[in-house]
Amino acid sequence: MSTPGSAVRSAVLRRLAGAVRSLTTPLLPDDYLALFDPLLCGLEVRGRIQAIHPETADAMTLVIRPGRGWVRHRPGQWIRVGVDIAGVRHWRTFSVSCPPGRPDGCITITVKAVPDGLVSRYLVRQAAPGVIVHLAGPDGEFVLPEPPPPRLLFLTAGSGITPVRAMLHSLLSGAAAEDAAEHAVPVSRRSECRGLPDVVLMHSAPTPADVIFGAELRALAARFANLRLYERHTRTGGRLRPADLPDLCPDWAERTAWVCGPAEMLQEAEEHWAGSPDRLHVERFRPAALTAEGEGGRIRFTKSDRQTDADGGTPLLIAGEQAGVLMPSGCRMGICHSCVGRLASGRVRDLRTGQIHGEAGDLVQTCVSAAAGPVEIEL
Ligand code: FES
Repeated sequence: MSTPGSAVRSAVLRRLAGAVRSLTTPLLPDDYLALFDPLLCGLEVRGRIQAIHPETADAMTLVIRPGRGWVRHRPGQWIRVGVDIAGVRHWRTFSVSCPPGRPDGCITITVKAVPDGLVSRYLVRQAAPGVIVHLAGPDGEFVLPEPPPPRLLFLTAGSGITPVRAMLHSLLSGAAAEDAAEHAVPVSRRSECRGLPDVVLMHSAPTPADVIFGAELRALAARFANLRLYERHTRTGGRLRPADLPDLCPDWAERTAWVCGPAEMLQEAEEHWAGSPDRLHVERFRPAALTAEGEGGRIRFTKSDRQTDADGGTPLLIAGEQAGVLMPSGCRMGICHSCVGRLASGRVRDLRTGQIHGEAGDLVQTCVSAAAGPVEIEL
């Protein structure tokens, strides 16, 4: 309930804001604030890279201070990060690799440079502290329930460890985990970590040196009896597969599982848990296999006034980029909907399912849709 005093105060503040707006027109007060500190921009969320820590030869953890408007994430969720490279803004999706509520107010993403990854290579090789990035999210359902189940299984490979690392840290008592992680002290006696459920973590990477957060994970497993780590090096032993579960984790069927890694591993997991899919959570870092094929067609990008011929297996996103169209995109794997364009005419094929759909006016995800005959799209 408002009091006479608070009503007067609100009216004065409204008039003051109006006066400031009239003085700064045509710009908004936010525009001036953003000149002093880009993180205060009220029109979009931005972040400043505060620090960059190497994890492996080709992976870095970026510590980012989010600006005004940032929403706290849940461990396991992803965010979209936009970077400006050669005057063009590119958006990509990354898991947040830290639990929420860091004392410094920052978040972290851990990025592995992939050979054809424009943004990942920029973030790993060129970005420096002080660089401003654009942020959107957080989002995603690859998260822990509240409260977490008593027994968990994490099956990860490569950079698939990043969302799981955030979950692990939120499960561990924060102070103990950070302490173990930062000092990586050898511990002679393993003890139960109170409050930590029974966790099995099975992770694969090419070599010991390629394990992202390797020292930290090993230190945590050495310290806590209720965290078991199985590490497999693919150069010598092949990747851990769901088929290894009966030997390494005989009670796997009684655990709730989170699986993150290459598409092949996720498919194996979905087959392995076919009888109890409610116990399985998967997160994709690569698109599900885009295998559908069929007749392609001529694609006309109406706003850019460009056109190209594409076969029935080429995403509209790739066809547009190759034709010189500035295509919006984010995850490039069908989850974030940053790439949608409005169909003006024609029909498209969903490359994940083979289904042909669409009519004029529909929004289609260009990263997972191909032309099924002649197509016009408003991009
Ligand atoms: S780029 Fe994310 S859904 Fe297409």
